[in-house]
Amino acid sequence: MSKLGVLISGRGSNLQAIAAAFPGEVALVLSNREQAPGLAWAAEQGIATCALPSAGREREAYDRDVVERLRAADVELVCLAGYMRLLSRVMLDAFPNLILNIHPSLLPAFPGLDATQQAIAYGVKFSGCTVHYVDQTLDGGPIIAQAVVPVIAGDTAETLAARILVEEHKLYPQAIRQALLRG
Ligand code: GAR
Repeated sequence: MSKLGVLISGRGSNLQAIAAAFPGEVALVLSNREQAPGLAWAAEQGIATCALPSAGREREAYDRDVVERLRAADVELVCLAGYMRLLSRVMLDAFPNLILNIHPSLLPAFPGLDATQQAIAYGVKFSGCTVHYVDQTLDGGPIIAQAVVPVIAGDTAETLAARILVEEHKLYPQAIRQALLRG
């Protein structure tokens, strides 16, 4: 049974999907925002949580604290689920090829914030979501899995994001299994 650490900054719907579908244990949910709703949800489920505010912290020093918490919880694989921070070498070296991220676009298209707004503004006919290994770039790193979602007439950033989110919740647990099988 593998132990997952899930890092969030907000709502935590992908966290919920992972916790429901993953056969291993979510050993720790850590958030850089104390008020993240996902943190309260995890605590209600009896999952260990940690609020570690990042505002004003230097990136490497902050990541050293994150690594310490993840190690203390025996975490083997780290999943970023709406964790809105770039990782430093400190995190990447501590968990080499063991950090995954999900993003609501078909990367490498539309990295960064407001990915579905970017897709609508560009006028693409298909978007979707991507789970990838994390490197030091924004939403960058080798792709593990993608799901395609058509853009339909009248879509707004919000309606597209909602349909993509449904696919995210299926894709992330599958991609985690794939990553664990690859070792
Ligand atoms: C998800 O749509 C995820 O793909 C996105 O944030 C949302 C978090 O929702 N991540 C990124 O944009 C990463 N660049 P959630 O908190 O409900 O899982």
